[in-house]
Amino acid sequence: MTISHACVIGHPIGHSRSPLIHGYWLEQHGLAGRYEKCDVSGNDLAAFVSRIGHDGLRGCNVTVPHKVAVMDLVDYVSPVAQAIGAANTLWFEDGSVHATNTDVSGFMAHLELSAPAWRPEGGPAVVIGAGGAARAVVYGLREAGVPEIRVVNRTVSKAALLREDFGARIVPWALDSVQSSLNGAQLVVNASSLGMTGQLPLTVDLSPLEPGGVVVDIVYAPLETELLTNARAFGLTAVDGLGMLLHQAVPGFELWFGVRPDVTPELRAKIVATLEAV
Ligand code: ATR
Repeated sequence: MTISHACVIGHPIGHSRSPLIHGYWLEQHGLAGRYEKCDVSGNDLAAFVSRIGHDGLRGCNVTVPHKVAVMDLVDYVSPVAQAIGAANTLWFEDGSVHATNTDVSGFMAHLELSAPAWRPEGGPAVVIGAGGAARAVVYGLREAGVPEIRVVNRTVSKAALLREDFGARIVPWALDSVQSSLNGAQLVVNASSLGMTGQLPLTVDLSPLEPGGVVVDIVYAPLETELLTNARAFGLTAVDGLGMLLHQAVPGFELWFGVRPDVTPELRAKIVATLEAV
């Protein structure tokens, strides 16, 4: 019998924590499946995608640098992946290879669980960054009904592009005005590289936030960024980036192995241990 398997493809791929996540769920559910890392170069991408649906290969996660290129190689691209312009999950269904983007649902699921009192329609949100991750965040917040999404970016033209793509509720801001962008905000999301290990920290004064405000950092290495420490000091709800990584993995596992897995405290602790080991 062929064993069902999936993998994460990228180039390079050494850093990926996806095998730990899916390996945990396979074991937890007692499933005879496999999930591995596959280093696939751009030249080999089309050949890899053509193998999905054969010999037990159910699909894959896609990471840098293939998230955009892969969309031209599949039979069907979901509306959310089309809107984001990138796919991170491929699977085989009804004889076709499908692609979607689970960053949006991963971000929103984690936010809703971690900040249950947050109401999307309650006020403006600030998103710092305008790259691939920020697109997923902005799209998710817009779909949830946030009335105004201030996109603050070093390169303002990229924030303006988000307004062109996602509509007038998106308001571009320059990074040097980040402090004023916080006035009246209910939610702040760092979706830039600032605060990652080896990068500059994101230093802002969070005092203009409304009481009950929520601060999310999608950076998860380090897990406790300066932004989150500041948020806690102001009594705001601080939401770390690891939950998004864990929740974005859920739909892929269900599509490949037929069981919807849970993001458990034990899984989280396993990944935290790998972050601390770095
Ligand atoms: P990802 O796919 O993870 O979002 P990305 O597309 O490279 O990665 O986006 C990185 C984001 O971090 C961008 O918004 C980038 O700003 P620019 O669009 O101006 O490049 C932001 N960023 C990275 N380094 C930064 C720095 N030193 N200062 C300010 N913003 C930075």
